[in-house]
Amino acid sequence: MTASHEDERPLLRVRGLTVAFPTAAGATEVVKSLDFDLARGGALGIVGESGSGKSMTSLAIMGLLPKGAERTGSIEFDGAELTALKEREMQAVRGDRIAMVFQDPLSSLNPYYTVGTQIAEAYRSHRTGVTRRQARRVAIEAMERVHIRDAARRVDHYPHQFSGGMRQRVMIAMTLSMEPDLIIADEPTTALDVTVQAQILDLLAEIRRDTGAGLILITHDLAVVSEVADHLVVMREGDLVEQGTAERVFCDPREPYTRMLLDAVPRIDDEIGLLKTTTAEEDR
Ligand SMILES: Nc1ncnc2c1ncn2[C@@H]1O[C@H](COP(=O)(O)OP(=O)(O)OP(=O)(O)O)[C@@H](O)[C@H]1O
Ligand SMILES: [Mg+2]
Repeated sequence: MTASHEDERPLLRVRGLTVAFPTAAGATEVVKSLDFDLARGGALGIVGESGSGKSMTSLAIMGLLPKGAERTGSIEFDGAELTALKEREMQAVRGDRIAMVFQDPLSSLNPYYTVGTQIAEAYRSHRTGVTRRQARRVAIEAMERVHIRDAARRVDHYPHQFSGGMRQRVMIAMTLSMEPDLIIADEPTTALDVTVQAQILDLLAEIRRDTGAGLILITHDLAVVSEVADHLVVMREGDLVEQGTAERVFCDPREPYTRMLLDAVPRIDDEIGLLKTTTAEEDR
């Protein structure tokens, strides 16, 4: 295989991905034989109602499914079959190449340590031979890159000293310090005010542009993905009901379910316009 062919290979290739939970009445499939690709540097939106299997899909990719869940199918990441990796090897992938941003940054941050310590330790845990001092510098730089003002001072603050939007920036800074090839963000803005949501989405789009990392953005809110994703997967009750370029899915949805999701954001263009023009000084 030539180098140019390798570059054309998707970053992530998911085939027949199924997640099932055993019950007394047999296995319940909550993700049903999904097929999708994420191009290198691409941004994929996974949308669907609550319970449609979005989070289970991302956790299946990360190898972080809850106990009892059974995963089958193929997940090829940069040419490597993730389902074949041992837990220790998967830990290395998670620490180094695929990073996740969750809805609630507070649950991922330790209240007893400064954000700087947490970013620095996350960085040190997957880089050998990095001194505390170097890691602190990385933490400050990462905080600057997510536009936290006065990062050199804020690095010594604790999570509770930050607003929700700023905490999500801290989480994204932690992600950035790992220099991942793929960022999976599961409802990263759901807990935030609308204006702050727009800022975080802008930030994710900017990071993707600047670092070339692939992005999977999971949300129940189509207005959220419209700004960031170039490709969309629509899920319903574990099934992939429709996929295509974001433009095609938005302008020409083929499935009634997708149309219903779109109707739930009737003023989608107005809202996006509003989001883009509003700036929230308060959260800066
Ligand atoms: N530990 C578990 N045991 C059994 N079923 C589970 C478990 N965890 C989740 N499920 C089921 O899996 C299905 C998919 O859940 P998932 O969390 O992926 O939905 P989602 O699309 O992320 O929803 P939301 O938008 O609310 O986050 C749901 O029906 C849920 O009830
Ligand atoms: Mg979810």
